[in-house]
Amino acid sequence: MARPSAASLVVVGSLNVDLIAQVVRLPAPGDTVIAGQLVKRFGGKGGNQALAAARHGAQVMMIGCLGDDPDGRDYRNHLRREGVNCSCINTVRTVTGCAHITVDAAGENQIVVIPGANGTLTSPSVKMQRSRIAVAKGLLLQLEIPLEAAVEAIKIANEAKVPVMLNASPVQPDFPWGDVRLDAVIVNENEAREIFSLSPAAAAQHHDAWKERLAAKRIRHLVITRGASPTVLISKTAVHEIPTHPVQPVDTVGAGDAFAGAFATHLAEGAEPQEAVLWANTAAALATLKHGAQEGIPYRGEVQSALQQAKPTTKGRA
Ligand code: RIB
Repeated sequence: MARPSAASLVVVGSLNVDLIAQVVRLPAPGDTVIAGQLVKRFGGKGGNQALAAARHGAQVMMIGCLGDDPDGRDYRNHLRREGVNCSCINTVRTVTGCAHITVDAAGENQIVVIPGANGTLTSPSVKMQRSRIAVAKGLLLQLEIPLEAAVEAIKIANEAKVPVMLNASPVQPDFPWGDVRLDAVIVNENEAREIFSLSPAAAAQHHDAWKERLAAKRIRHLVITRGASPTVLISKTAVHEIPTHPVQPVDTVGAGDAFAGAFATHLAEGAEPQEAVLWANTAAALATLKHGAQEGIPYRGEVQSALQQAKPTTKGRA
């Protein structure tokens, strides 16, 4: 079947096995809570975003590391079945990364990541994939891998003039903001406050302050996701608030990754960032309707139908 997208993306990031406990309420510090069950699923921000982009129609090449263990082998086969090119995923002599995830009855979560193999992704190993990054229509990455590896990938893309989309999650305090060029940065509200020391509330009224921060950090477009509230898109010329798609979430783990994968696909196709956010908002909302980070990540056609139902006049490109 032909892919409904001309986007070829390289995703550099983490690959985890998620161990998910469903609880009634999240534990406070020092608390013990009893979980209904423990479920094992594929996850990791890198793997989730690669799969999200592939389901959105992009041709995806993943750069990352898996352990030399059954989890690593299963994960590679799983991504292959999802159509992700895994030839740049290294198998290393350690365990596959793992995330302990707790999800409460309202779909909120807490996550602790044990990097394992993800921690072995080095700058030289990324450099070896220079030719793959240089021919892509976009580079998508997160910060769940060693910083030196992420920065190397961005520098290669900058040199080759390949658009870079960074989901700056989890926040890495030492990220060299301003040393590299970033076409789009995606963060949630907490991450935005931490990185920019500004409140995302009423961003339009404080556009000058945001513009200054973006210029200093060499960011072209900043996307701030806010759960069910409209997503804020800040660029040099304007601040936009883009509505989200109304749903009753059962599990929000991986929603941000569904957003990033869909957003990056549209941007790499040459769409305007506002249009990319509209699609991404809907992809993220649909992703919350199933348990597990990857289980609910929608295909492009599903996102398109939901968009059309929500707003028949929406002009989307499939
Ligand atoms: O963004 C969700 C992901 O964060 C989970 O799949 C988990 O592995 C952590 O990386």
